[in-house]
Amino acid sequence: MAAAAAAAAAVKRVVVTRALPAATMARLTSRPDIAVTAWEAEGAMPAAALGAAVAAGGGAAGVVCMLTDAIDAALLDASPALRVVSTMSVGYNHIDVAACKARGVSVGYTPGILTDATADLVVALLLATARRLPEAWSAVKSGEWSSWSLFWMAGKAVAGATVGIVGAGRIGSAVGRRLRGFGCPILYTGASGRKPELEAELGGGATYAPLDDLLAASDFVVVLCSLSPATRGLFNRDRLLRMKPDAVLINASRGEVVVQDDLVAVLRERPTFAAGLDVTTPEPLPTDSPLLTLPNAVVLPHIGSSTTACRTEMADMAVRNVLAALDTGTPLLAVPL
Ligand code: NDP
Ligand code: DGY
Repeated sequence: MAAAAAAAAAVKRVVVTRALPAATMARLTSRPDIAVTAWEAEGAMPAAALGAAVAAGGGAAGVVCMLTDAIDAALLDASPALRVVSTMSVGYNHIDVAACKARGVSVGYTPGILTDATADLVVALLLATARRLPEAWSAVKSGEWSSWSLFWMAGKAVAGATVGIVGAGRIGSAVGRRLRGFGCPILYTGASGRKPELEAELGGGATYAPLDDLLAASDFVVVLCSLSPATRGLFNRDRLLRMKPDAVLINASRGEVVVQDDLVAVLRERPTFAAGLDVTTPEPLPTDSPLLTLPNAVVLPHIGSSTTACRTEMADMAVRNVLAALDTGTPLLAVPL
């Protein structure tokens, strides 16, 4: 009896906030020392359900979460047994990492795995916005296409245009590499100054510039910085107006990096200015958002990493991170705390 009680006590519970692929779930369910509480319904796990699941039965030891789950101090305090929070994302602005650190809870994430998928999507969004693809396709469907015409649906040239990358980290650098293939000179800026290796890799085609210089000189500005107190609201009216009047802003970082009302105003005032957004505030973007009425805005539903292969690998890494943390104390890919 005592042995059975000890075995039961040794079982650690892991809460998983979305339905994950079966092979990935099997990593958890095949372990006799792990019990799983999984949210199986469509969509995000409601915060109250997540809190209750974390608190239940003496408390969960691990949580596999998504960027849609707010992991705050109150949630962490719901389980004294909590050892790890593992997010299926590279961005971790939805997690209070300081609160995790204070409680000895490690944080796993999925850097690198989604770099190529996201960089591909960013280039697709940049091209779609520059060349007005959604507008053109709508015109075909609505019958607005009357004849071939000189400047009808004329867009902005990408080849050879100057591209400014705000946040030349893993994904920003991958976008730079792709756009060098289009002959684009790259300007970049970030938190940590010049990156000689990136400049060498891009064969002298990348140059560091302070943010305001980058904004003034770029035909396309691609935002791929992480969301933090320093970057929240970075693209306010003042910074948007520092960009060329016919520039294109691409944001695939987090919606909160851009002051969306300011962007809407600038898009209205400057019909030659355009924006391509994979991220918005809020998400999902309400269908009555003014952004959706503007011909010079292209909005995607946060699909940067959304290839089947990439999402499968991200889910798998999120689970492997939680298991590694429970087994060894450290996720395989750990957010530095
Ligand atoms: P990295 O950590 O490699 O890159 C983050 C970048 O942000 C770095 O280049 C860093 O600069 C820069 N940065 C940090 N603070 C500032 C600041 N104050 N001003 C300017 N730049 C700053 O992360 P990844 O490239 O892997 O991912 C970047 C972000 O992209 C994620 O945090 C996430 O928000 C978003 N993302 C969105 C996806 C989507 O589906 N749309 C998919 C994946 C990620 P420096 O290099 O100089 O230190
Ligand atoms: C991330 O990983 O941060 C993205 O936003 C979703 O893949």
